[in-house]
Amino acid sequence: MKEIYFDNAATTKTDKRVLKEMLPYFKGKYGNPNSMHNKGIEARQAIEEARQKVSNILNCSKEEIIFTGSGTESDNLAIFGYARKNRDKGKHIITTKIEHHAVSHCFERLSKEGFDVTFLDVDSEGFVFAEDLKKAIRNDTIFVSIIYANNEIGTIQNIKELAKICKEKGVAFHTDACQAANYCNIDVLDLGVDMMTLNGSKIYGPKGVGILYKKKGVEIEPILYGGGQENGIRSGTENVANIVGFAKALELVYEEKEKEIRKLTELRDYFINELLKIPDTKLNGPRENRLPNNVNVSFANIEGESLLLLLNEEGIFASTGSACSSKDLAPSHVVTAIGNSPEIAHSSMRFSLGKDITKKQIDIALGFIENFVKKLRKMSPLDFSIEELIMKNKKARECGE
Ligand SMILES: Cc1ncc(COP(=O)(O)O)c(C=O)c1O
Repeated sequence: MKEIYFDNAATTKTDKRVLKEMLPYFKGKYGNPNSMHNKGIEARQAIEEARQKVSNILNCSKEEIIFTGSGTESDNLAIFGYARKNRDKGKHIITTKIEHHAVSHCFERLSKEGFDVTFLDVDSEGFVFAEDLKKAIRNDTIFVSIIYANNEIGTIQNIKELAKICKEKGVAFHTDACQAANYCNIDVLDLGVDMMTLNGSKIYGPKGVGILYKKKGVEIEPILYGGGQENGIRSGTENVANIVGFAKALELVYEEKEKEIRKLTELRDYFINELLKIPDTKLNGPRENRLPNNVNVSFANIEGESLLLLLNEEGIFASTGSACSSKDLAPSHVVTAIGNSPEIAHSSMRFSLGKDITKKQIDIALGFIENFVKKLRKMSPLDFSIEELIMKNKKARECGE
């Protein structure tokens, strides 16, 4: 059975060219970069070359790049690190209702530590209103974190505008750009961000590696203590192979960005348009300013999980809900934050495209999806049209349910 992989927002396949760069660091070049002998120096050089490559792409200095063990760790480091270091300046911090759990759970934790947290609403396509951010900032606000491109519904925020608002008010701004790196501007100087998270697993690199860009002068507290690596900000022996792989992967996605955007935007729009021909199907997220690889739709009266399992039997791999929490059967907090009822959220499916996908594969998948949706609807006790579900939800929201 041939496989069709629609789960690139969860993770991408490691590029062969990336793997080739990494392999020597599992073989002869296995030294600890903190050792003073030649084996250590060789490993240290590899890390510093990787740091240089990453900083060239992000348009920052080498000293502003911190290598970490994942996107989650970079987010935790930025949020806990900044809030705890700067708590004497103010206790108010801001994020949105559509963050990845690697961000939202940090804010929830900080609220237990005495911080006052504002979770900004988004509109029906997942966009944060600049005005809402402006209004939310208070005299005691110290930090804002807003996801660059949403992992579930693909909404790309105007990070430049949001970062500018924070800068004008003297508030530090972090963005989680894990899903954005392949397709969006990641020039930190141009964006005007203070901190930015990226990870290897979404850019055809290795899993278990991330970076935090931290602008010179932005002070944070470590979350890991030990040998003082990464300028004392992230202790622990560096994962040399993963760091080398991350830098190579970032270089490749940067070089191939324009081509991938063109190809995937066309395939994404074709896929969405064909899916919307299935009766009672709704697109989640915007048409414009959407990640070129993101398709997220809800099919009335079916459970996304059932469709996922039927597709899985055919070697078609997709996702319901968030990449990293897809074992959680609660309705997606992102799909509900854009105004959908739990029923519509439960019937949502995300198909995230990657660079190997073809139109032929999309056509094969469409055939199966259409059949399975029909089959599941025949078995379903529910028989609502998508409009009825939307109206039902609207009324319930108006009544404050
Ligand atoms: C937007 C976003 N942030 C953070 C993460 C977490 O990254 P990692 O799995 O490297 O910890 C993910 C992974 O799904 C993500 O999509």
